[in-house]
Amino acid sequence: MDELLTQQIDEVIHRYGANQEALVEILRDLNQSAGHLTRDHLDSVALRLGLPHSQVYSVASFYSMISLKPLGKHVIRFCEDAPCHVAGGRQIWDTLERELGIPFGETTPDGEWSLLTTSCIGACAVGPVMMVDDEIYGNLTPEKVGEILARYRDYGETEGGIV
Ligand code: FES
Repeated sequence: MDELLTQQIDEVIHRYGANQEALVEILRDLNQSAGHLTRDHLDSVALRLGLPHSQVYSVASFYSMISLKPLGKHVIRFCEDAPCHVAGGRQIWDTLERELGIPFGETTPDGEWSLLTTSCIGACAVGPVMMVDDEIYGNLTPEKVGEILARYRDYGETEGGIV
């Protein structure tokens, strides 16, 4: 195991202890520091917590905030739950795929964008909703999606969401 990976795992285990109850938090924090989780991460967490690899893997695959493959510089998480869907989500889904030129689940070839789905993020009142990195954007229209993407393309990041 490489030194960086050992250091990342030591940090999160130090934070939560080798506590099986904290598996989701451990994986989430590890994902945040590493960018995505590799087989080595999962094996190591399983070993340190005394859990079967299959259990750690299934938890890591279940949560949309945890990634098992490298992601782009900016990660879009689009809410695909029913309230957002009935508020016009399908149109936004199509717009995102068209604007970025990739289907959901993929990363653009230049490594700038990953397009993922998420379940409800608690902002149903302003659906359709998406997150770009840590910012939440609501009341989306195709025009608004274009403006948001342009802001990230022009400035690399934005200051605050526009819910
Ligand atoms: S259903 Fe989309 S934020 Fe709740």
